[in-house]
Amino acid sequence: MSIGVLTSGGDAPGMNAAIRAVTKVAASKSLTVWGIRDGFDGLIDGNLQPLTRQIGKKGALSPIPEVEDSGGHGGTMLGSARSERFYTRESRIVAAEVFKDYSLQGLIVIGGNGSMAGAHVLAAEHDIPVVGIPASIDNDIGLTREALGVDTALNTIVDACDKISDTARSHHRAFIVEVMGRNSGYLAMAAAVATAADAVLLPEQGSGPDEIVDSVVRELKRSFEGARDKARVLILKAEGVSIATETLVDRVRAELGPESVFEVRATILGHLVRGGNPSFRDRLLAGRFAFTAVSALLEGHTDVMTGWNLQGLGTQTSDSWIKLFPITAVLEETEALLDGSSAVTMDRVRRMEAIQGVLAI
Ligand code: F6P
Repeated sequence: MSIGVLTSGGDAPGMNAAIRAVTKVAASKSLTVWGIRDGFDGLIDGNLQPLTRQIGKKGALSPIPEVEDSGGHGGTMLGSARSERFYTRESRIVAAEVFKDYSLQGLIVIGGNGSMAGAHVLAAEHDIPVVGIPASIDNDIGLTREALGVDTALNTIVDACDKISDTARSHHRAFIVEVMGRNSGYLAMAAAVATAADAVLLPEQGSGPDEIVDSVVRELKRSFEGARDKARVLILKAEGVSIATETLVDRVRAELGPESVFEVRATILGHLVRGGNPSFRDRLLAGRFAFTAVSALLEGHTDVMTGWNLQGLGTQTSDSWIKLFPITAVLEETEALLDGSSAVTMDRVRRMEAIQGVLAI
């Protein structure tokens, strides 16, 4: 029996660890593993490479060295893409033919919510057994407490903010630090708790540019003047909020005026946050997701995603942390996460405010 594995969407630290674990677990169960290059594009183009090889006299299967070597590295050894072509029915027919030509019996899709939507369509239209593994630094995938890459990205952000705080305190400066996350404010919010930031700008709050400028100016004055007299002010800004960082800083400076005694600076962390070797937790999670995903395919599950979810939802697996969720339910909860209506988002904002007094704008 053979299975395929692909990584799709924005890369995330932990994808290679998941590829390695999928290949190891599958090889130990005598499954041949094919790596599909550059996401769903590779399935359309028939761009596949074997990730297992036969070793020893008895021909037992083992991962190829590249798989073993890359497990601890960031990025994805298979390459990734946001496939435009996969949106067309014609391309998906071609992809399904490639799947059959290679005699694959299952597909593991490692990626974000767009990738899960792609996996679902493949299962629904062509009856292809698919299991998704959530991987995206944005943490905007429903029904999993965390996706692969989030822990590493947060460690990178916290490290960067600590460094920025060192220099900010020395000069009594305010810093607005922008972090990735597309339409999700999770990274900004979680990092704000860990760095004891003063405020966090979240797309889920739905604030307009004027409101954001006013709130930031108020927060700066409150922090630097009067009783608080802080040495630094740190404001984390999610990239999805309604005002560009450069514009925000210009407008805040203009409001404060030339006489202002404190300076406002900005740093955009950008793709720095997406790279780097996966943390311990991302590697651990990758292994547990991968084991559950391969087992799920062998048990006949399809159109499901593995989720780290400790609540009573989902289908129980042999791993106490990991459950299986229908991808349709995942996509529904994803929408609620992004429009701020999910109970999970509301609870996260409340806890952040309660723990560190971070102002959510
Ligand atoms: O989804 C991951 C992510 O890094 C987002 O945080 C960000 O908005 C986007 O991808 C950037 O994508 P690209 O690298 O294609 O510009």
